Amino acid sequence: MFYNTKDGHPFRFNPLSAIVTPRPIAWISTQDGKGVRNLAPYSFFNLTAYDPPQVMFASTLTKTDQIRSKDTVANIEATGVFCINVAELASAEAVNKSSAPLPKEMNEFEHAGVEQATCETIDCVRVANAPASLECCLNEIIDLPGENNHLVLGFVKAVHMRDDCIRDGKFEIKTYRPLTRLGYQDYSAIADTFVLKRPK
Ligand SMILES: Cc1cc2nc3c(=O)[nH]c(=O)nc-3n(C[C@H](O)[C@H](O)[C@H](O)COP(=O)(O)O)c2cc1C
Repeated sequence: MFYNTKDGHPFRFNPLSAIVTPRPIAWISTQDGKGVRNLAPYSFFNLTAYDPPQVMFASTLTKTDQIRSKDTVANIEATGVFCINVAELASAEAVNKSSAPLPKEMNEFEHAGVEQATCETIDCVRVANAPASLECCLNEIIDLPGENNHLVLGFVKAVHMRDDCIRDGKFEIKTYRPLTRLGYQDYSAIADTFVLKRPK
């Protein structure tokens, strides 16, 4: 099977997001200029550097009550900050619920029944019981080719880790099982891991 992306794929659903898997899920909390809180999952997400620590995520499409992006990007443009909360298996239903395209004045924490806590270093909220949360400030938003595609680059200012996720000086993913995004409507939660020593 081969297709050239300019000709389009022959399937009912785009296979690309099933090919690039598993993707970590950034459960991103923000607030708008008036303090309305927002929470939404983004799986076009990754860590991009250690020093200074940096992250990226990408937003595609827009919604009817925003001009050129989704609420998360519009809020980051307005406030310059955001918090990335790690999604776990136990929060799968709430993560999915928070992805509903709600009007911008609605708070997804309340809609999805997620407890909120305040951030320490930025004027923003976070998911109270997340395995980890990264308090971030905006570096740059790059408009990507196509309509309403945006790459958001940020600096990690502070890190929260849940106490039960720390074992023997390491952040232990087996305590919470990271929720990952596959293609279509599929998810996976990491359970099996193994160690490989890096070659010298
Ligand atoms: C697990 C999951 C991952 C998602 N990843 C992305 C993503 O990477 N980029 C994107 O634009 N939308 C993504 N979405 C869709 C957004 O979460 C959805 O459009 C949401 O309504 C955006 O909320 P906001 O307007 O409050 O930012 C994802 C949805 C789910 C359920």
